[in-house]
Parts: sequence; structure tokens; C-alpha cells
Amino acid sequence: MSMTQDELKQAVAKAAVDYVAAQAPAGSIIGVGTGSTANFFIDALAAIKGRIGATVASSEATKKRLEGHGIKVLDLNEVSSMPVYVDGADEITHQLAMLKGGGGALTREKIVAAVADKFVCVCDESKLVSTMGKFPLPVEVIPMARAYVAREIVKLGGQPKLREGFVTDNGNIILDVHGLQIADPADFETRLNAIVGVVTNGLFACRGADVLLLATPQGVRTLTPD
Ligand code: A5P
Repeated sequence: MSMTQDELKQAVAKAAVDYVAAQAPAGSIIGVGTGSTANFFIDALAAIKGRIGATVASSEATKKRLEGHGIKVLDLNEVSSMPVYVDGADEITHQLAMLKGGGGALTREKIVAAVADKFVCVCDESKLVSTMGKFPLPVEVIPMARAYVAREIVKLGGQPKLREGFVTDNGNIILDVHGLQIADPADFETRLNAIVGVVTNGLFACRGADVLLLATPQGVRTLTPD
């Protein structure tokens, strides 16, 4: 019997909770990502909420869902160490560089991930690619810099499109960049971040994932960078 995408996401979410239970000491602070796979992780995390100290959320939506399960959410400024951050991705390579931000939470995701010792990515196998860029790359931009940043992105070979009617949790806009084939993700991440007015871009390559839990119909595979 074939598994639906939701069943795959549920399986990988459960594997991530097992990973947290095995790897993070009892009472640890756990970083929690955003998106539909992260939502399944949150629901599964509720089963071990007595074992974890608290969480840090990468978006308002994630915070709300965690609190809905009675899971404590801390402000990142109150936290100095976090063994694990668990989040999904829109694309991921075999080197575990990721393209994220389909849900628009990329900046807070990158900030919370920066504090964590280990980034555990949870995906179904449709997300594993050899070259990223088919999924439009989200770039969070300060609103007054929109047109300037868009022109600079065109110079880098992308086609930026404003995400209509969307405001990030930080009060900024998102440009989704189409038409990319990202040969060197860390270099492109750095070049985009150097454009004045860019807050963050959705490439997580300079600091990629440490572990990928990949849902396949044959079970969840655990991958480390090639
Ligand atoms: C949220 O801003 C994104 O970075 C998500 O991590 C990404 O979009 C994955 O979401 P799904 O699990 O819903 O595919």
C-alpha cells in the first residue's frame, strides 16, 4: 500500500521525536521549525513533553501550536544553549544544504538554528535534489529596499517576484526568486546577504543540516552530509 505525503511526514516527525528523546538530555531546550512537517513534529513532541525542558519557536504559528499542546515556549534571548533544532525544508541536497522559507519564516528559523548545536532536517523524499533552485528562493527584504534589492537579484541571474499580501513575523516582505540553478549554495547565500536591504535569504548552506531524517515508503532513512 502506498503512503500519502502526510503519512510520510508523520513517520519522519515520529523519527525526529525518537531522535530528540535519544540525543537530547532530559530537560533540554528544543528548537522547533515551521511548516507542515514541523507541525507533525510538534504534535508528536507532545507525547514526550514531560521529558523536555521547554522549546523555542521559529514563528508565531509554531509558538501557538506548541502552546496549544501545553508545551512551554521560551523567548530565544532567555536561552544560551540548545542541543537540537528540528525543521523541514523545501529542498535539500546530499551535502545537506537547504532551501527554506516557503512558509516565510526563514529569518527566525535561521536565528533559532544558529543557537542550536545540531540541525535535524525532517523531509519526505520529494525534497531531496541534486541542484537547488527549482523551488523559488525566498528572500526577506526591508520594505523600502524592495525595488533596489529586486534589481540586484536580477543582476545575479534571478527573477524576483513579490509574495503578494504577505508580511513576515518581522514586518518585512518576501521576494520569491525564480529561475535559479544554484551551483554553489554557500557562495550564493553569501552574495544575496551582501545586498543592502536583504534581511536573510532562504539558503541554509553556510550552515546546513547536520542530520537529515528522510521519509521514504520503505521507512525513515538517516543521512549525514556526503
Ligand atoms: C518555513 O518557512 C519553511 O522554511 C519550511 O521549513 C518549509 O517550507 C517546509 O515546509 P513543509 O514541511 O510544509 O514542506
